[in-house]
Amino acid sequence: MRPIHRDLMPTIVPAIVVAGLMGLAFHSFVQAQEYPADITRGKGVYERHCQACHGVGGWGDGPDGQALKVPPANFHRFRSFLKSDEELLRTIEHGVVFSPMHAWRGQLTDGEMQDVVAYIRLLSQQGR
Ligand code: HEC
Repeated sequence: MRPIHRDLMPTIVPAIVVAGLMGLAFHSFVQAQEYPADITRGKGVYERHCQACHGVGGWGDGPDGQALKVPPANFHRFRSFLKSDEELLRTIEHGVVFSPMHAWRGQLTDGEMQDVVAYIRLLSQQGR
């Protein structure tokens, strides 16, 4: 590497990092814009695919969840409640390793996954 390149490194590296961060921010902005969450559709997705394990109210007490070794997540627990939408979305998309919670990518569209997260958020704010 010629000396001039080494001199430029301190300027170039932070510039790349900043550009990357801006790209990330823009990316989530675009995503949020592209799919305004549709709670009604999220409810439909939830009832069809998730309720049997996670339960009607999202307490992790659905009939199919009773026999599972790893119980379905209770969305009212702080552990779930404190997670960001992004984290929940990632779990739905990719599943939980070594658990019956499989990946939904391919079965649900991006929009449906975002809607179901919005619906889970709504459930987690409701009492019994
Ligand atoms: C076969 C039963 C089953 C079905 C069906 C199911 N889940 Fe799950 N889910 C689980 C289990 C088990 C876990 C893991 C709990 C753990 O790791 O403690 C889980 C975890 C999750 C988590 C992570 C919660 C957290 O706090 O990290 C989310 C979000 C989730 N499920 C959403 C969904 C959605 C949305 C659907 C429907 C599209 C769905 N699940 C369908 C069993 C199921």
